[in-house]
Amino acid sequence: MDLTTTVLMVLLFVLGNVTEGEVLHYNFYDKSCPQLENIVRAGLVPLFVTDPTSPAALLRLMFHDCQVQGCDASILVDPTEGNVSSEMASVRNFGIRKRELISIVKSMVEAACPQKVSCADILILAAREAVAMSGGPHIEVPLGRKDSFTTPSYQQADAWVPPATTGVDDMLHIFTSKGMTIQESVALIGAHTLGVTHCASILNRLYKAEGDKAHQEMEPGFVLNDPTAFIFDNLYYKNAMGGRGVLRIDAEMVSDPRTAQIVKHFASDRDDFFRAFSSAFFKLSTSGSLNQGVIRKRCNVLD
Ligand code: HEM
Ligand SMILES: *[C@@H]1O[C@H](CO)[C@@H](O)[C@H](O)[C@H]1NC(C)=O
Repeated sequence: MDLTTTVLMVLLFVLGNVTEGEVLHYNFYDKSCPQLENIVRAGLVPLFVTDPTSPAALLRLMFHDCQVQGCDASILVDPTEGNVSSEMASVRNFGIRKRELISIVKSMVEAACPQKVSCADILILAAREAVAMSGGPHIEVPLGRKDSFTTPSYQQADAWVPPATTGVDDMLHIFTSKGMTIQESVALIGAHTLGVTHCASILNRLYKAEGDKAHQEMEPGFVLNDPTAFIFDNLYYKNAMGGRGVLRIDAEMVSDPRTAQIVKHFASDRDDFFRAFSSAFFKLSTSGSLNQGVIRKRCNVLD
């Protein structure tokens, strides 16, 4: 990206957020919690070692949080006796795992900097560590998000989180409306270089496949999204081009005329994939943040 584009992006970004009443900064916690990024990183290491499937879960968790009224940790709020509604009650959040890890890291952050750091920011930092610690790019993220304070709504999650059966057309619509290019949109789906897909998410595709083979693959209850499911690399694109894309979106991007060349390019140029993924991650994590919000004491309850 050249200098003019960078300056323009930064300007648009700052102005766009000022009108929304909230500004994100790269040094937002420099005074109030200077150790923040180290605490998050050090807190995650043992959690990732204990369960190497955690980075994938946190990356997807961030996507599903940011889809619903911006990145505000609304997906972390548990149902209560007073109101049983939660975003997790939406079928669109099927397979979402490891929300509790953000609460664990939050308690470490609270011990050092009480009531200063939002769960929303911790979730973004955790997702970017998930990418970096898996061998992906190190992504700089501006901070200063606020947490939601109203009862989360599964209807909102139903409305904004894309279904498992989403194709290229809807995917591009979702991401270009956040200001992403087609290249960035294709790069963001490269997140599927990490993690697993449960069989329920691909039953509609399995039934179309030859019966026996499909049933064998169903045995363990899930399939790996790409053969190196713990490593953030560009094998996802090579794999998809080999006809082994797991989800509809993975398979369709290979043949759709709008995305086919980009898939091919990322399959052979890891660095370009990393660059485009980083700017897409930035756009996802800064789009549509809350006007007003709070800093929750605990990530899973509205106090
Ligand atoms: C239209 C866009 C997308 C669709 C339709 C989609 C769909 C899915 C589905 C159905 C699963 C499997 C869930 C399960 O069975 O447990 C999955 C997994 C995953 N998705 Fe996506 N996804 C999309 C975009 C994204 C984006 C933008 C990211 C992150 C930036 C992402 C990251 C992941 C990760 C890391 C996993 C593995 C999760 C785990 O191992 O627990 N996805 N996705
Ligand atoms: C629970 O919260 C949801 C989402 O804000 C709202 O639509 C619903 O009316 C609330 N229900 C009760 C019983 O308060």
